[in-house]
Amino acid sequence: MNILLIGSGGREHALAWKISASPLCDALYTAPGNPGTARCGENVALDVTDHAAIIDFCRAKTIDLVVVGPEAPLVAGLVDDLTAAGIKAFGPTKAAAQLEGSKAFTKELCAEAGIPTAAFARFTEEAAARAYVAEKGAPIVIKADGLAAGKGVVVAETLDEANDALAMMFAGGLGAAGAEVVIEDYLTGEEASFFAFSDGTHVVPLASAQDHKRAFDGDTGPNTGGMGAYSPAPVLTPALEEEVMARIIRPTVATLKARGTPYRGVLYAGLMITAAGPKLIEYNVRFGDPECQVLMPRMKTDLVAAMLAAVDEELKSFDLRWWDEVALTVVMASKGYPGAYPRGSEIGGLDAAEAVENVLVFHAGTKQAGGRLLADGGRVLNVTSLGKNVAEARRNAYDAVAVIDWPEGFCRTDIGWRAMARENS
Ligand code: AMP
Ligand code: GLY
Repeated sequence: MNILLIGSGGREHALAWKISASPLCDALYTAPGNPGTARCGENVALDVTDHAAIIDFCRAKTIDLVVVGPEAPLVAGLVDDLTAAGIKAFGPTKAAAQLEGSKAFTKELCAEAGIPTAAFARFTEEAAARAYVAEKGAPIVIKADGLAAGKGVVVAETLDEANDALAMMFAGGLGAAGAEVVIEDYLTGEEASFFAFSDGTHVVPLASAQDHKRAFDGDTGPNTGGMGAYSPAPVLTPALEEEVMARIIRPTVATLKARGTPYRGVLYAGLMITAAGPKLIEYNVRFGDPECQVLMPRMKTDLVAAMLAAVDEELKSFDLRWWDEVALTVVMASKGYPGAYPRGSEIGGLDAAEAVENVLVFHAGTKQAGGRLLADGGRVLNVTSLGKNVAEARRNAYDAVAVIDWPEGFCRTDIGWRAMARENS
């Protein structure tokens, strides 16, 4: 098969690595890709917002399957356009991608299907929103309805913070994404990510993972896209996983099917494991980044076969298998991230890092300039390792980090601390 992968981050390098290992894959193209995906196939300079150009490319290269990595092209309807052109594509339609494209859409679906989630209200007027916040009190969570590149959620500790967030969103600080605001009760517990493949009707669970959203050690500092992750997430016991499938994932897929907008692709549930059981924080309609970087090394099953089964509505009898090993990834980011950071500093030592036992280095924001590898983004490298337990995976990953020569970068030194604490208890 000829496969086209859309995206350019660490998630896409991990997907490209796994796809290119499939016996079903003859040729892999990544658009636009990065220096990591270039090692797994060929990068192509396509504009992913130009659906007609992507369709032309698929016809020219007789592409059999398109895999869409990020949410923006899914929400923009790339899969709908490819399907209409007769090209198979893995990922939800525009209508089903509203699970990530609109927080209000997901909250209404939870209400309709009885899915456990934080109580909420929706607002398009600042005054009414302020009145609601005053009545509810803090802490409280303010969310822009639309896609805001990870900047749309404010967990407000005080009423002032909540009101500032409302003022920012209603003043257009997040563009159209903030024209409607969802206000939610604040949930307490431990967060975990849960992934499943859906073919519209049938659902197969993947493995669980946990990421670290804060920039600095001890889970302090600003929120980021994720500074590291590990799989499995020990907080998600098999009994809890079954509860998540029964109370959250299956009702979601059944409701979307009943509405005539079936969900095909990977469904990523962000969960809070509360004292009252697992609750849905949010849905994403794609693999997590960096969660994908720890799921792919643990996946024993052929990813391409699994994706085809989801597209072709054949997941019913599909079985996904996983290596027992723990996978852990450490994100190396440009100093300054998630704020402003310079680009173009040189990175050395990657060959030595990849020579460390059981280590894979996925590229996220890098650029090749002649023989030199340069930093070209906020999150730059994902140093990933497998181990027999969290302690071993973590030791391997940090051994590899230690030989990477990049003074302009930083990473957290405590990825996996919760799981380590559990392992040691
Ligand atoms: P989201 O983009 O919806 O995943 O939200 C980003 C982060 O905000 C989550 O990972 C949580 O840490 C936090 N968060 C979102 N909603 C809530 C909530 N209702 N209660 C507590 N924390 C939340
Ligand atoms: N790691 C969080 C996300 O992919 O949204």
